[in-house]
Amino acid sequence: MYEHDVLIIGAGLAGLRASIEAARMGVDAAVITKVHPIRSHSNAAQGGINAPMTDRGDEWEGHALDTIKGSDYLADQDAVELMSREAGDAIIELEHMGVIFSRNEDGQLGARRFGGQKVARTFYVGAITGSAMLQVLYEQAIKHDVNFYEEWFVSNLIVEDGVCHGVMAMDIHTGELQMIRAKAVIMATGGAGRVFEPSTNALICTGEGLGLAYRAGAPLMDMEMIQYHPTTLAGSGILLSEAARGEGAYLLNAEGERFMKTYAPDYLELASRDVVSRSEQTEINEGRGIDGNIHLDLRHLGRTFIEERLGYLQEVALEFVGVDLAETSIPIRPGMHYIMGGIKTDINGATEVPGLYAAGETANVSVHGGNRLGANSLLDTIVFGRRTAIAAAEFANSAERHSSDESMLASEKARYQALLDRPADLRSAGIRREMGESMVAGIGVFRDQKSIDAATATVKELRSLYQRVAVDNKGKVFNTDIMAAIELDYMLDVAHAICAGANARKESRGAHYRTDMPDRDDENWLKHTLVYKDGEGSRVETLDVTITNWTPIERVY
Ligand code: FUM
Repeated sequence: MYEHDVLIIGAGLAGLRASIEAARMGVDAAVITKVHPIRSHSNAAQGGINAPMTDRGDEWEGHALDTIKGSDYLADQDAVELMSREAGDAIIELEHMGVIFSRNEDGQLGARRFGGQKVARTFYVGAITGSAMLQVLYEQAIKHDVNFYEEWFVSNLIVEDGVCHGVMAMDIHTGELQMIRAKAVIMATGGAGRVFEPSTNALICTGEGLGLAYRAGAPLMDMEMIQYHPTTLAGSGILLSEAARGEGAYLLNAEGERFMKTYAPDYLELASRDVVSRSEQTEINEGRGIDGNIHLDLRHLGRTFIEERLGYLQEVALEFVGVDLAETSIPIRPGMHYIMGGIKTDINGATEVPGLYAAGETANVSVHGGNRLGANSLLDTIVFGRRTAIAAAEFANSAERHSSDESMLASEKARYQALLDRPADLRSAGIRREMGESMVAGIGVFRDQKSIDAATATVKELRSLYQRVAVDNKGKVFNTDIMAAIELDYMLDVAHAICAGANARKESRGAHYRTDMPDRDDENWLKHTLVYKDGEGSRVETLDVTITNWTPIERVY
């Protein structure tokens, strides 16, 4: 049995940034992660991190407005204001920690323009920004003497009398289950992209953080808001960064037209992601696609520019589809990329479960609303990772150490044993694939009542089949088979919550575009959806959006 003041689940950018701040607050901080920290999915973030820089004449209000408009007015404006105000200092601090941001010809930090914004305020490290940040934050966490449980799998929370007191986790190397007590727990487990197939997300993005919080009583907010990134490789779903369009790449249909002029005459390829993805899908659906895809064309940028500024994209294109971006345009299509929804938190990361906090993609502090702007996710992790750690450390400082009931560990062990004892029957991988494909079909770029009902019914059916999932590997060491079975348990809850949110929201807003209800309805739906676990089922409530300075108006690009 282990004990800490603040235990952070997940070692991506939100988790690592939180760990550094918790250590700075003088508490005993630990990070527990199912993969080695620098294999976390933040590693895959490519294009950059947004920040308005006052000394360049870019005031925080401009970024806040673009973010709120991008969110289709679903973001809580107090949270957005905080993020925009704190962004500049956060970037400079990262630079001072050692992140080697790319520079322009004058030697200043270089910035590119990203979607939904007219200003170039996306700071970047080539097209490997997340990876560069992750390496530096991991070094900093070590420097701050943060404890690490690397390759440990959290399968349950310790919750007594409605308060979170730690986790139960398996040491993946040995298969041993342990209780790890903590006065405060921060969920920083990233997204749940693999509830969809295909997805740009790593295979580890299974969303058990969302499922754990949901089962502990925390509501999941705006789960219907699923981001489809406009440029993912056909088939594999691998991301080709928005940085390409930020640097001037075109989107072309079968007739060789830059079709975005029809849908977003002012912003063209750099409209917000939901708008670009819908435009591409419309071109494809109306027969102007190329083998079910759209083409991304970088040829006019020239080989030297592509290799210097977008080298990682060139590598991906060559390796996965054999395309040289300097010579040939590349087929892409909208692909599931991000969940705007997540565990509802306040602006300091507190959930509705005392002792449980959340930050990063797994949380919904409500800065992205119905559609996240590209490069605002890294900013969210850094700003709210820090804020959440401060709140969690303060909570820990005022909390008594709790002696948890050891019988909880016995029941968790029994849960694993029951899976191991089940006779060979269904495999988790098959159920996971069916769930993922039905979620893309039902909760896609376009959706309607029929498609939402179909996805809901499939998820329900798969939930009942889950009772028959068996684990072939009965061993102790690196038993990823049993992990996959437990991940699937939580993924089915997440899929259910997404369907419940989509069913509840009777309008179109941001990424939730219903062909049967194509209009935004501010009168009735300037509201968040909250999905709570309720017995074996769920219930959906709503909550008004926080509006401060920005009155919702029609959103055009
Ligand atoms: O396209 C990209 O580089 C992705 C960035 C993001 O999702 O923020």
